[in-house]
Amino acid sequence: MAFPATRMRRLRATPSLRGLVRETELRAHRLVLPLFVSERASAPEPIAAMPGVCRLSLGDAVREAREAAALGLGGVMLFGIPGEKDAEGSGAWDREGIVQLALGAIKQAVPELIAIADVCLCEYTEHGHCGVLDTSASPPRVDNDATLELLARTAVSHARAGADIVAPSDMMDGRVGAIRAELDAEGFADTPILAYSAKFASAFYGPFRDAADSSPAFGDRRSYQLDPSNGREALREALLDAQEGADMLMVKPALAYGDLIAAVRRETRLTIAAYNVSGEYAMVKAAAAHGWLDERATVCEILSSLHRAGADIVISYHAKDAAQWLSQTT
Ligand code: PBG
Repeated sequence: MAFPATRMRRLRATPSLRGLVRETELRAHRLVLPLFVSERASAPEPIAAMPGVCRLSLGDAVREAREAAALGLGGVMLFGIPGEKDAEGSGAWDREGIVQLALGAIKQAVPELIAIADVCLCEYTEHGHCGVLDTSASPPRVDNDATLELLARTAVSHARAGADIVAPSDMMDGRVGAIRAELDAEGFADTPILAYSAKFASAFYGPFRDAADSSPAFGDRRSYQLDPSNGREALREALLDAQEGADMLMVKPALAYGDLIAAVRRETRLTIAAYNVSGEYAMVKAAAAHGWLDERATVCEILSSLHRAGADIVISYHAKDAAQWLSQTT
C-alpha cells in the first residue's frame, strides 16, 4: 500500500511515538572505553589529536576504571606503553608488564568491570610491527608463524593477570586458533577471545599510534592488515576467525565499514564489536572544537548507527561522555 493509505510520518509525530518505535537503543553497558596505560607516565599525559584522552599511570588507570564502572560502561580495553622495547616485543608477556599490572589492579578495585586486553606486539617491538621480523628477507618481513607463539604467550599472561577477555589485534593468520589452544592448555578454557577479524590497514589509526608510540619504523602494515577496498576478503577473515574459535568478532575501523558490520551480522551468529577508532574520534573532536558540529548529537548518531548496522558492542573513546549524556536523559 502506498500513499495516501501509507503515511510514514504517522509514527514520527511525537517524541513518545518515536520512542515507542525506535529500533536501536544506545546503552552504556554496550560501550567499551579504551585506556592507554604507560609505564612512564606519572601524571595523565594528554594526547594531542585525542582531546580528553590521556596516557595513564597505573593509579590513574584504576581511577578511570572506577569511573567507567560508576557510569555503567560495559568494560575497558587496555593498551600498554612499556618502558622499554625490544626486537621480539617481550614486554607484551612480561608478568610485571604494565598491562598485566593494570589488569591486576583494576580487577582488584572494580571486579565487576569487564577488562579486555588488546593482544599485539606493536607497542612492545622496537620496529613497531605487530609481529617478529624475518630479517633474512630484504626488506625484513613479519614472520607469521613465529609470531603466533608470542601472541599466545601474551594472551595467557593477560588471562593470568585477570583479563576477562583477550582481543588479538595483530592480523596474523591462525592466531585465534593458536591463542585458543594455549589458553585451554594453561587452564583458561573459559576466557573468551574477541578477534579483531576485519581489521583494515587504515589511516584512521594515526592518533592511536602517536598515543601508543607504535608506528612502524619502516614500511607499513599492509602485508597483514586488510586492504580497505576489500569487503569479501574481510568477510573471509571473519568466518575463519569464527572457525578457529573466536567468541566475538570485531570490525575496525567502524564508520567507513558499516557494510562489513552488516555483512558479518548476516553471515554469523557471533557477538559483533565495532571499534570507533582514534581518527574517527579526532575528526569529531576537531569539528566540535570549531563549533562546526554538535558533539553530543554527532556522537550519539555515530554510536547508534553502529548498533543499527549490527554491532552488539561499540568500543569508543566517546564512551564516558556518551554514558554521561545517557544518564542525563533517563
Ligand atoms: C594494535 C592496535 C592498533 C589499534 C588498536 N590496536 C593500531 C594499529 O593497528 O596500528 C588502533 C586503535 C585506534 O586507532 O583507536 N595493533
